[in-house]
Amino acid sequence: MKILFAASEIYPLIKTGGLADVAGALPVALRKKGLDVKLIMPAYQGILEKVAPIQQSINLGNPFGAGDLLLLETHIPENGTPIYLLQCQALYERADGPYVDKNGIDFKDNHIRFAALSWATATLALHGSLIDWQADILHLNDWQTGFAAAYLESWKVKHLPVVTTVHNLRYNGSFDMNQFSETLLSTELLSMHGMEFYGRFSGLKAGLVYADAITTVSPTYAQEILTPEYGDGLDGTLRAMPEKLVGILNGVDYEQWSPEIDSLISKQYNTDNLEQKQTNKLALLQENNLSEDLNQPIFGVISRLTEQKGLDLILEIMPKLLDKGARLVVLGSGDKYLEAGYLALQDNYPEQVSVRIGYFEDYSHRIQAGIDALLIPSRFEPCGLTQLYALKYGTLPIVRQTGGLADSVFEQGEKPNGFVFEEASTKALEAAMERCMACFHHDKEHWQALQTNAMGYDYSWEAVTHQWEALYKALLTE
Ligand code: ADP
Ligand code: GLC
Repeated sequence: MKILFAASEIYPLIKTGGLADVAGALPVALRKKGLDVKLIMPAYQGILEKVAPIQQSINLGNPFGAGDLLLLETHIPENGTPIYLLQCQALYERADGPYVDKNGIDFKDNHIRFAALSWATATLALHGSLIDWQADILHLNDWQTGFAAAYLESWKVKHLPVVTTVHNLRYNGSFDMNQFSETLLSTELLSMHGMEFYGRFSGLKAGLVYADAITTVSPTYAQEILTPEYGDGLDGTLRAMPEKLVGILNGVDYEQWSPEIDSLISKQYNTDNLEQKQTNKLALLQENNLSEDLNQPIFGVISRLTEQKGLDLILEIMPKLLDKGARLVVLGSGDKYLEAGYLALQDNYPEQVSVRIGYFEDYSHRIQAGIDALLIPSRFEPCGLTQLYALKYGTLPIVRQTGGLADSVFEQGEKPNGFVFEEASTKALEAAMERCMACFHHDKEHWQALQTNAMGYDYSWEAVTHQWEALYKALLTE
């Protein structure tokens, strides 16, 4: 079975969030099962230095008037996954991130940049002869590649089945109608049953309405997005086609995220020598010049700093917990008011709080190994990966019961592995953090049982690849 898998970010080539982790690991797991998966992504600045030498280059012409679109065939050196990089200097070679400039503002031509990626993806999917490889299934991810489903629809030809995975419904990739002509798509698609979205046009909605199957990254989020509360204006669209929607929980690449083999942390450990986690804790405290008291817990945050993640709730209650001796280590970047809020907390508690604004992959591993509990009070969370990583490191997640957090962290039941609260309120979060503190200080045995449980959960990609295989197969036999 041949799958063309399109994404706007793929680890280890480029990453701003969980999409990159997923696009970097799910295809690898599927290939291990014998599926023939190939990737497509833009050749952003610096990417060519990270891939193997280019095997061939195919000129797809200049449909958008931004310069020739060149398709470069290569593979990812770390895992051998074949990848097509779409090269077009004017569209993709920029010093900043894949979506925004250095001030955090969306690039003005994002509709053209990702329409072009989607156009090239649809072209490859339809004309396998161009690359001597005909895909059986086209797998799209989020709004940036959602336009591909619209191209296939507008070209009015019989085509392969399309799967769209929603990683985050909030980012619907919608643009002003007067930019629509620049996508080269047919205006026939602009009905409310098509890709029109509240007077705009949306890449994500295109990916939903023109797909044969829609997946999202956890079973609970698949239910939640059918409601107005979590549907971000697309719940009506989704409710009209419930048979197409399925939730498959994301997995973890345990070759990257296992304290037993993680070369980025101070001291490797597993359930048999869990006391070595303390070495990592001490190293984290020393690295950040925090008070070296191992008898107090360290809470951690590794996150995009956005409204979604509920991090404003932590800011409000943290002083109370700090006054009781807790410490806090934060790594993140995003909304300026949150960055400022956390930096102010650090100024007020220099020996107990460390805040690093920016994106540091290696440091995120040291935090996972060194902290006691990871805070994820998200208002919504399609899946969430950091709680899955935390579990493996014997770091107990404190999560709001939503989306993939609800599907992976449990305070009750046979094998509890963390702390869970329901309401998105400071009160509920504080109570959960207090339960965590009480357990840490007064019930070491239970704490260790939670850690052992946590480390024993199998959230590997291998545990879910059969669900993907079954979905693809069902689409081919329909
Ligand atoms: P989302 O995709 O919504 O941002 P996820 O939990 O699915 O949330 O994935 C986030 C990924 O990005 C994880 O791999 C996490 O470790 C990483 N991450 C988030 N912020 C940072 C940061 N500032 N530095 C390093 N890694 C980060
Ligand atoms: C999105 C979601 C996150 C999910 C990730 C990977 O960024 O916000 O919850 O884990 O995609 O699917």
